[in-house]
Amino acid sequence: MRRKLIAGNWKMNGSLAANAVLLNGLKDEIRETKSSVAVCVPAPYLAQCQAALAGTAIAWGAQDVSVHESGAYTGEISGAMLADFACTYAIVGHSERRSYHGETSEVVAKKTERAIKSGLTPIVCVGESLEDREAGRTDAVVGEQIDAVLALLGPADLAKIVIAYEPVWAIGTGRTATPQMAQDVHAMLRSRIAARNSAAAENVQILYGGSMKPDNAGELLAMADIDGGLIGGASLKAADFLAIIRAA
Ligand code: 13P
Repeated sequence: MRRKLIAGNWKMNGSLAANAVLLNGLKDEIRETKSSVAVCVPAPYLAQCQAALAGTAIAWGAQDVSVHESGAYTGEISGAMLADFACTYAIVGHSERRSYHGETSEVVAKKTERAIKSGLTPIVCVGESLEDREAGRTDAVVGEQIDAVLALLGPADLAKIVIAYEPVWAIGTGRTATPQMAQDVHAMLRSRIAARNSAAAENVQILYGGSMKPDNAGELLAMADIDGGLIGGASLKAADFLAIIRAA
């Protein structure tokens, strides 16, 4: 039985004051959960999260990691720096990074590898655009994205990643994939991993992301291959994030 993971992606939101309210609201309610819980926050707030969440059941992480180990890469943040702040997770390949920052599947694969080398668990995001879905290209697009990552990782490393299926057309739009649509892609992703390492495929957590809210989380999380959620907007309100955690 795979443990579920509910991870918040705060994106470029928050302030010291607002984060304190949110983190306190979460800490008070999350003591023992059946699921793993994490927040992926803007890098300047990692120290705040570490101070607030150390010793709690809530893990924290970043939203990106550099492909480089260290050196003259202005503005970049290395895996070792994230590890310094005791991050558990680093999101890689979010569609907002792929589309606004030109990250290719090859770059995403290198970031995944770098995160693992730094002792972090990468949350590797994949997902198709509306145009791709309507043209019947979902499996081809998502398959290419995951294969680029799988090609770079050794069989043992396949057990060290989390995958997040986030259809681009469902992100921040209020439009969600139906549970069956998501399940179909999740099963496809798991079978791609199984082709390389069947034990890893059984254990890898595949999250769904894209307008997951308290009122649709239960039916999505009930699907056989949906092992949690990567939550954007609804992770910024303690009540909504807690309701999703309860649904898991
Ligand atoms: P929303 O939950 O706001 O649609 O965002 C999903 C997402 O992109 C999480 O990474």
